[in-house]
Amino acid sequence: MTLNASPTTGNDRPIALITGASSGIGQATARRLASSGTPVVLMGRRRERLDALAEEITSQGGLARVSTGDVTSVQDVTDAVEVANDMGHLGILVANAGIIPIEPLEETELERWHRTIDTNLSGLVNCVHTVLPAMLEEKRGDIVLISSVAGRQTFPEASVYCATKAAVNHFADCLRVDLAKRCAKQGGHLRVSTVQPGIVQTELLESIEHEATREAAKAFTESVLEPLLPEDIAETVAWIIESPPHVSINDVVIRPTAMTR
Ligand SMILES: NC(=O)c1ccc[n+]([C@@H]2O[C@H](COP(=O)([O-])OP(=O)(O)OC[C@H]3O[C@@H](n4cnc5c(N)ncnc54)[C@H](OP(=O)(O)O)[C@@H]3O)[C@@H](O)[C@H]2O)c1
Repeated sequence: MTLNASPTTGNDRPIALITGASSGIGQATARRLASSGTPVVLMGRRRERLDALAEEITSQGGLARVSTGDVTSVQDVTDAVEVANDMGHLGILVANAGIIPIEPLEETELERWHRTIDTNLSGLVNCVHTVLPAMLEEKRGDIVLISSVAGRQTFPEASVYCATKAAVNHFADCLRVDLAKRCAKQGGHLRVSTVQPGIVQTELLESIEHEATREAAKAFTESVLEPLLPEDIAETVAWIIESPPHVSINDVVIRPTAMTR
């Protein structure tokens, strides 16, 4: 876990912790939120990329700090939250880090299934559990979970990926009930939302280790006319967070127009 130095916020804008900020949706979300004045903590494993993004954001007048780490490590997540607390009040979590192992069942390694659950589900739960105490104390906070349409439909050779995303959706539904109960009793605005994208043009498919499957998945993506861009999802996250406090956008399903399923 490494940190870089940059100034504390000096204002009361809630700090946003964004996991998986080194590429794709997380990177675009960090740019988008920072551009409207939200200080951001960038988390991921590839430090050079995070440093470059933090530099870009600060050069444009935004506030960004880096917390290099792995969401599967509770210590790394705790360190990232401490970086945010050092800047001010951590009021936004965008739990976005994820991987997608797709491969024929005959060649699936159990370790890859476990790694997917550890990253997409346990890692996300690590983040939510670590940010919750401060949000509960403040009685305000936004938790945005980047899920997928894979959580509501089947995709070939991707059963564990789909299962992690379905679990994220149900986790959000249940958590929302618990948070709403506390808001009703104590006042406050604690919101949890899922964003469930279809195909987005990112580096995600590069993480598929099975070569033939990776190439087939990339070909399928390229066959979709105009896939979503990471910026489309970033705009959706900003809309969720910037909605008036009494408005909770529960779930957003967002597909490329040409993708019907
Ligand atoms: N692209 C799509 O079509 C699509 C569709 C639906 C949902 N999604 C979801 O969107 C999210 C973002 O994916 P993306 O499409 O933007 O792909 P991406 O460009 O590959 O980004 C994935 C991010 O997750 C980070 N990450 C992976 N494992 C991590 C770990 N153990 N600890 C910390 N960070 C980790 C990566 O950073 P480091 O490697 O630097 O750690 C990277 O920044 C994922 O949850 C994915 O399931 C994507």
